[in-house]
Amino acid sequence: MAQQPQAVQEETRILVWDIPTRIFHWLLVLCFVIAYLTSESERWQLWHVTSGYVFGALLLFRMLWGVVGSRYARFSQFVRGPRQVLAYLRSLLTKSPEHFTGHNPAGALAIVGILSLGLLTVLTGWASFNDYGDWIGELHEGIVNVLLIIIGVHIVGVLVSSVLHRENLARAMINGHKRGVAVEAIRYPQWIVGVLLLAGLITFLWALLSGELPWLMP
Ligand code: HEM
Ligand code: HEM
Repeated sequence: MAQQPQAVQEETRILVWDIPTRIFHWLLVLCFVIAYLTSESERWQLWHVTSGYVFGALLLFRMLWGVVGSRYARFSQFVRGPRQVLAYLRSLLTKSPEHFTGHNPAGALAIVGILSLGLLTVLTGWASFNDYGDWIGELHEGIVNVLLIIIGVHIVGVLVSSVLHRENLARAMINGHKRGVAVEAIRYPQWIVGVLLLAGLITFLWALLSGELPWLMP
């Protein structure tokens, strides 16, 4: 590749996370917290099941966005094999850890785990809610416990990477901006997809609560 002129290589503040990815993340956290806190009591079951289904709808959206979304939201951009994950983790022990503009390979591994176990959680929750047997309820709880561990690792990973790279990653997931060279920025924040995502979620919530989806809410 041709050498870029110095000015082009200079690091500035660039847009990395589009609006739909940010809406997805923080609504996912909110739904998870509500579903978890309401899981133990019958009284809160409507809240548990509803927040759980919205959690599932968000995951389905993210699967799609991982294929057609903007640069750093695509799975092909951040899902890496075990060798690259190890190489990244080893680089964290050195003075100049490898810096990634999008997700780092170790973080990506946790993300794949959260997306897949998240979907299994919703599937087993649905089966348990529809009385497919007590064991399904146990499985549902077991999967959630593994998911909790991965989420714990995810949060610690975010904190550790933020310190080592001297970059507030949680803030980047809020305002969308990270450090990088101008050519690496995404061009569009994708506002329209963000609005469509919210509209889709509100419609789904309305259909769920007004009894239009009996196969989900008998
Ligand atoms: C308050 C706690 C949390 C914070 C501060 C946080 C922060 C972050 C940050 C900074 C990223 C981007 C990582 C990167 O820069 O590579 C991220 C990604 C992600 N986090 Fe969290 N997270 C939290 C809780 C959670 C929870 C509870 C879940 C799951 C239920 C979750 C699921 C994800 C997923 C799936 C991604 C990938 C985002 C995407 O590319 O769409 N996070 N998180
Ligand atoms: C973010 C998603 C979810 C999380 C974190 C979650 C978490 C949990 C947890 C921790 C329990 C065990 C509670 C206990 O101590 O007894 C539980 C039970 C249950 N969940 Fe979920 N859940 C989620 C989604 C769902 C969904 C989408 C449904 C149904 C549509 C569902 C239906 C149920 C039912 C029926 C039980 C009782 C199971 C039994 O006692 O056998 N959950 N959930």
